[in-house]
Amino acid sequence: MSQQEVVYLDGNYTPKFKASLSILDRGFLFGDGVYELIPIHNKKIFYMDDHFKRLKKSLELINIDPIIVDEIDFEKIINSLIVSNDYTNHFIYIHISRGVDNFRNHIYTENITPTVLVMGEKYQPFGIEHIKEGKKAIIEDDYRWLKSNIKSTSLLANVMIKNKANSYDAYEALLIRDGFLTEGSASNVFIVKDQIIKTPKLSNKLLPGITRKFLTDIISMHTLTFEESDISKDALLDSDEIFCSSSTNPVVPITQLDNKLISNNAGPMTMTIYNHAQDFIKGFQK
Ligand code: PDD
Repeated sequence: MSQQEVVYLDGNYTPKFKASLSILDRGFLFGDGVYELIPIHNKKIFYMDDHFKRLKKSLELINIDPIIVDEIDFEKIINSLIVSNDYTNHFIYIHISRGVDNFRNHIYTENITPTVLVMGEKYQPFGIEHIKEGKKAIIEDDYRWLKSNIKSTSLLANVMIKNKANSYDAYEALLIRDGFLTEGSASNVFIVKDQIIKTPKLSNKLLPGITRKFLTDIISMHTLTFEESDISKDALLDSDEIFCSSSTNPVVPITQLDNKLISNNAGPMTMTIYNHAQDFIKGFQK
């Protein structure tokens, strides 16, 4: 982190290492807030409208007035961070907590002023060799709450699950609820079976990933066969190909799931989608 790197916190641009918050901030005490993580490709904000739309929806679902997204000029703030920090390929992290209350109480005071943080993080997606080789994943019970469509900052379950995967040298944990795939601990999941690309349909059990949307746009642009459907644990294990999608790594092939080898390397359909996604991103950068 450069000493000069600045972040936006509650109306001010502050050096990242000096930015600080009250201990009574409800984000700190309760994880009472929501966030967005937005890729910046060649200084441009990727799928911006979709990210802001999801941010508003998350706020609405936790009863914080989403008007804040219209009132604060996030596009201007992000562009200003891109310029002052000379970001080229980075993420922008937006964090909105309910704000600082007068005391620690589960019941919040209505209409306290939300805390707003916007900061950058370096973007380091996997290189092509890692992609071609593919990654390992584990299967885990989806023991998170039933509002996983909210991009909440309360990420304890996701953190525990992803760290369990990491301890098995795995990139991701694929989550099963009531016998069916929901998503990964920090990604959405697609499978390929008999040339058909499938992903679970949106519901309260998974995050409506913006990369998921980006990839479905790519899939329809290239007229590949696609369906949203329930995917049982058995169907997941019986997939020809599996890949995860997220803003940090748009397409990550999963070649091993627990002890089951899915494919020797990244599968052909996964690589087709990966290459189309990369081409789109390169085109977006111009
Ligand atoms: N997480 N599902 C979960 C649980 C996630 O945490 C994420 C992303 C996704 C993919 O969403 P998107 O395509 O909009 O990035 C799905 C981000 C990367 C994070 O928490 O850092």
